[in-house]
Amino acid sequence: MSEKSGPHVHGNPGGAAASDVLVVGGGIIGLVTAWRAAQRGLAVTVVDPEPGGGAARVAAGMLAAVTELHYGEEALLALNLESARRYPDFAAELTEATGLGLGYRRCGTLAVALDADDRAHLRELHALQLRSGLESEWLTGRECRRLEPMLAPGVRGGLRVDGDHQIDPRRLATALVLACERAGVLFHRTWAARLDTAGGRAVGVTGEDGTVLRTPRVVLAGGSTSGRLTGVPEEVLPPVRPVKGQVLRLTVPPRYAPFLSRTVRAVVRGGHVYLVPRENGELVVGATTEEQGWDTTVTAGGVYELLRDAHELVPGITELPLTETGAGLRPGSPDNAPLLGPSGLEGLLLATGHHRNGVLLTPVTGDVMADLLTGAEPPEAARPFTPARFASAVTADSPTLEHSA
Ligand code: GLY
Repeated sequence: MSEKSGPHVHGNPGGAAASDVLVVGGGIIGLVTAWRAAQRGLAVTVVDPEPGGGAARVAAGMLAAVTELHYGEEALLALNLESARRYPDFAAELTEATGLGLGYRRCGTLAVALDADDRAHLRELHALQLRSGLESEWLTGRECRRLEPMLAPGVRGGLRVDGDHQIDPRRLATALVLACERAGVLFHRTWAARLDTAGGRAVGVTGEDGTVLRTPRVVLAGGSTSGRLTGVPEEVLPPVRPVKGQVLRLTVPPRYAPFLSRTVRAVVRGGHVYLVPRENGELVVGATTEEQGWDTTVTAGGVYELLRDAHELVPGITELPLTETGAGLRPGSPDNAPLLGPSGLEGLLLATGHHRNGVLLTPVTGDVMADLLTGAEPPEAARPFTPARFASAVTADSPTLEHSA
């Protein structure tokens, strides 16, 4: 192959690499990994055709460690709380680095019940929250409506959780792109076509544009697509699948403000519905949970369900302009928790599988991945999330999170 027609190679394949780390995926998880790694002095390249895209373009941005607590997920709770604890400083630092607001709103959340079944479910959740040492207060329906007068008269009770906040994921993604640029991160704007391996380890990535990028370490942070990057040995591919979520955006005209002063959520007919009011008047209504493969169609049924359930909670929403509909793909993992750390292939690390908690887990993920990439000790709460817990994803003798980097 002549030099002209051959692949464009970044870094000397036989010697020095162009970057210390290649991050595959420029969603919020890849970006925060790149930003934090660059801040620690590493030369980082992000491979993504549109950095700042991905599921964060659709997500509502609830930081719901307490209200999205589930039985059997104590370790995930600890990681979620660790990330929530880091959020104020993380948001302040990101704003300082970029001059951009993030819509980080410490507004709290009210989870309400519409009927006796919902109330029983919420009582169980409340008991679990209290057993887990979390702050959550039971309110009567009247007390709920006193806090949020737009709630339906039929609301039977609720949980006031003042520690579950929100951020605007689009603004977060935009700020992370700028922070990366300012920290010296390079962007290679193409899809990663293939992971390249040699001698039993990852050595780089080939882009869809034919560019060959060489590096000693690759971080796979491709969200829901992480489980299908060509070239990753089958036993190493993370067990991540797409979980579709349809989301609506409405606008609260100034004459209706404040429509809601905090996030309001409920489980209606077994499905989660939440209304997230932004300071700028946007009201985000989410989300369906659908196992539909790679389909991101916004369906009449999805929009109907969300509006129906949201209307039961807050009847006044039918007055609001519906300004946007969308569907995104959560990176679901078998235990609903992320995979953070070395894979079974030397030189390949994973930062994926964040499922319903990608926005919440952004700060701690950046810190954990930067720790792993620089040989520092990651926080205790991250230890259970080594990819090695999935036997099929990682070979038995693969390194643990403690022995990485
Ligand atoms: N954490 C909200 C969702 O995934 O829908």
